[in-house]
Amino acid sequence: MSGGQPQKSTDQSASKASSNKPFLKLLKQGPKDPLPATPPIWMMRQAGRYLPEYREVRKQAGGFLNLCYNPKNACEVTLQPIRRYGFDAAILFSDILVVPDALGQPVRFETGEGPRLDPITDAAGLAKLDPLKTSKTYSSIYETVDRIKSELPDETTLIGFCGAPFTVATYMIAGRGTPDQAPARTLAYRDPDLFQNMIDMLVDSSIEYLRGQIDAGAQVVQVFDSWASVLPDEEFQKWCLEPMVRICEALGQSHPLTPIIGFPRAVGPLYKPYLEKTGVNAIGCDTSLSLSYIRDELQPHAVVQGNLDPMLLLNGGPQFENRVRKIIETLAGGRHIFNLGHGIIKETPLKNVERLVELVRGSAK
Ligand code: CP3
Repeated sequence: MSGGQPQKSTDQSASKASSNKPFLKLLKQGPKDPLPATPPIWMMRQAGRYLPEYREVRKQAGGFLNLCYNPKNACEVTLQPIRRYGFDAAILFSDILVVPDALGQPVRFETGEGPRLDPITDAAGLAKLDPLKTSKTYSSIYETVDRIKSELPDETTLIGFCGAPFTVATYMIAGRGTPDQAPARTLAYRDPDLFQNMIDMLVDSSIEYLRGQIDAGAQVVQVFDSWASVLPDEEFQKWCLEPMVRICEALGQSHPLTPIIGFPRAVGPLYKPYLEKTGVNAIGCDTSLSLSYIRDELQPHAVVQGNLDPMLLLNGGPQFENRVRKIIETLAGGRHIFNLGHGIIKETPLKNVERLVELVRGSAK
């Protein structure tokens, strides 16, 4: 499978270009280098439904995945939050479920209901997927990356991404989002060999997909493990940590200069072993982590990213403003990227986002 083969390093351009990009520069720095005056900022799900200009393009696009697979439109919505707020990073507009779709498990997005797939629950279902078939789908995404790269302001960093194998598998097995990921957990216990085969396929395909994004121009990649927290320690090691270690090792071989951000959302005390074992350059901190834990346990070892509660951003007001200041002050002694603890909520008022950027950029002492 192509995912396992090391390739010629193609991330040289990332090293040359980092000096005028505060976000990329910070990710490439060591803990002893001088810090920027204010933390770089971007927001998870910054391209999306809270923006009227996104809703306009989305209406015309004819289906969410059509938007993801149309390089012109996907490039446009990637750039919208950059134009409006001047974030330090743009994130490729796509979705974590592009990977199963590319492998041959079609994904549909029903209006207002989230993703739908025909669930895979046995070996015959998994056998229908074809890792050699992904290139056509992935190419349209690489074309989007290429377009964004040529239109992005000089000072903005481009983030590529994929879902972590476990999180993607939860959708492939349940056929939809579920509150507790019970179908995937059940299958993992009932038929660990089958589950392992699915994870292995996703590891290889994710490596291929991230390498392709980097070759096309992504300067940083983030891996979203949104549902890692439902697993007990032992299963977390096996289904989240090990796959992520393989992804990091493979990218480390082929693209050693491209920083990786891990986001094992809500895993609490497992954040630390995740950081140690994967060696990610930066760690996405969810809302539940205390600032002192982030500062004392994580920040000495990696760039920390986070962790404003998206609900505080939605509500605005003094509580929101005080928390923004507190996050910045607590983490000011080390490398910090300002972000939310999870994706922005679609009802968030635009003026609150504007205020957030103002607060962060005005926070220099
Ligand atoms: O701006 C960005 O962050 C880039 C694009 C992006 C999207 N999804 C666009 C999107 C990214 C990075 C994702 C990641 C993603 N997708 C995750 C991991 C992060 C997280 O939030 O935990 C997950 C679990 C998914 C799967 C997914 N995609 C679901 C469950 C849904 C439906 C729920 C919802 O929010 O509507 C989506 C749809 C989706 N992905 C939308 C967007 C902008 C909304 C679709 C629309 O426009 O109708």
